[in-house]
Amino acid sequence: MRKKIVAGNWKMNLDKNQALALTNDLVDTLCDLPEHQRVMVCPPSIHLSSVVEVASGSKGLEVGGQNMHQARSGAYTGEISGAMLKSYGVNSVLLGHSERRAYFHEDNSLLREKVDAALAMGIEVIYCFGEILEERENETHFDVVSSQLQEALFHLEASQWNRVVLAYEPVWAIGTGRTASPEQAQEMHAHIRSVLTDTYGTECADGVSILYGGSVKPDNAKEIFSQPDVDGGLIGGASLKTEDFMAIVAAMS
Ligand code: 13P
Repeated sequence: MRKKIVAGNWKMNLDKNQALALTNDLVDTLCDLPEHQRVMVCPPSIHLSSVVEVASGSKGLEVGGQNMHQARSGAYTGEISGAMLKSYGVNSVLLGHSERRAYFHEDNSLLREKVDAALAMGIEVIYCFGEILEERENETHFDVVSSQLQEALFHLEASQWNRVVLAYEPVWAIGTGRTASPEQAQEMHAHIRSVLTDTYGTECADGVSILYGGSVKPDNAKEIFSQPDVDGGLIGGASLKTEDFMAIVAAMS
């Protein structure tokens, strides 16, 4: 059975003390999770080592990276590799976040390389994708999303999908306070699962967790997460406050 996941993407926020304070608060607040639920935070890479250390004393708080380079090592100033993530006990990574696509020119073909590099290192991929406002308005959003999946992921073997989580994040809903309606989220998640089913079959498609991201808050999380094809959320702004993040975690149940 696929798992429900709430993951916090801290983006480029919080200094050392703030990051440690938030992690400590989360560790103190997080209760035992049921078998089918996961909770994760994705801090800036400079904080990964200390956050992993604090989280290791928790009841299942997982830690993921926000990005990684496709090469194992080399002359790539400012970058971090999958091998480095692994060596700090980081076993998951966000790839393809819309901010990486928009500001750092990451496209589906580069992301395909990153996906392969992460999986080769045994790192779970949380693959982010979603349409921009213009694409929704001109009704190409289903095609855009299909291409984002096909070009970066559909070369994988069915057996590799147990290390892939999908995070649909419509760009027009990120950081805008304007969330997709539960119906819009369900409609797109059902589309994503049907595209997966067409290529990999029902058993594989049914096992993949598909998260929704974009202005998820304590007051809308429950309704979004209760949609049949929504398996949790990737949370930006609301993951920076313990109370808000934990309320969203509670909305998984
Ligand atoms: P917000 O929750 O701040 O809209 O950000 C969503 C996001 O980009 C998570 O990756």
